Amino acid sequence: MKSMLIKNDEEIKKMRKVGKLAAEVLDMIESHIVHNITTEEINQICHNYIIKKQKSIPACLGYNGYPKSICTSVNDVVCHGIPNIKQKLKEGDIINIDVALIHNGYHSDTSKMFILGKPSILSKRLCHVAQESLYLALNLIKPNMPLYEIGQAIEKYVKKQKFSVVKEYCGHGIGKNFHEEPQILHCDNRDPGIILKPGMTFTIEPMINTGSNQVRCMKDGWTIKTKDHGLSAQYEHTILVTDKSCEILTLRKEEKIDQILNINNKNLKYTQ
Ligand code: MF3
Ligand code: CO
Ligand code: CO
Repeated sequence: MKSMLIKNDEEIKKMRKVGKLAAEVLDMIESHIVHNITTEEINQICHNYIIKKQKSIPACLGYNGYPKSICTSVNDVVCHGIPNIKQKLKEGDIINIDVALIHNGYHSDTSKMFILGKPSILSKRLCHVAQESLYLALNLIKPNMPLYEIGQAIEKYVKKQKFSVVKEYCGHGIGKNFHEEPQILHCDNRDPGIILKPGMTFTIEPMINTGSNQVRCMKDGWTIKTKDHGLSAQYEHTILVTDKSCEILTLRKEEKIDQILNINNKNLKYTQ
């Protein structure tokens, strides 16, 4: 079994703080997601807020050479869309905004979808299924659970909805590093090696497509699109495994914890 980083109380405090800050960026940007705003303008607003208001560092900026402070993935872009001065948001667009921060030496990472104006039935359902797939995974988390059950549950649910799960990109441990062990797959993989333990912090960030799950990287070396140009949606949270379940470190204002986690309705399979 690979050794996983278990965070101590002091580190958990710092993870809570940086998690809350990242969630607040997504809360803040909501009112700016309007017709004709460019993805670069969204990037600028987030960048200034993170640096000046939050006294934090945008973790994406300069990460492996990434040129901007957030990722903006529109319509058929699966992830890592680069904000661009020429890209204006228009009626019916769906956009994922992915924010990662460093504060006091610790990282957080979270994303959500925004829809411009009146969504099509398909794009609304896609965004809903992506969010539900994250929430159902969060509901499963408890100590002593095999890690692979997360991906297994996400893929089973998404397939039932007749959508597909991208396999090339996954969630990740997070802490002092932006990306650390373990990898959190969003599809069925029977790796029995890793067992969840209290104090682990990681992201879950399923990418869900309307068509096939095949993806293609653009010439810029970052932007990942669906091969068939179908729509793609993603939601991401950074979480902490607790003694009984999980704590969502990047919970937003609009998210009510008792609506997300069925606290009274847990099966106790793995609880000692
Ligand atoms: N935020 C992405 C993730 O969820 C990583 C983006 S890396 C970047 O893991 F360099 F593209 F910003
Ligand atoms: Co991530
Ligand atoms: Co992210």
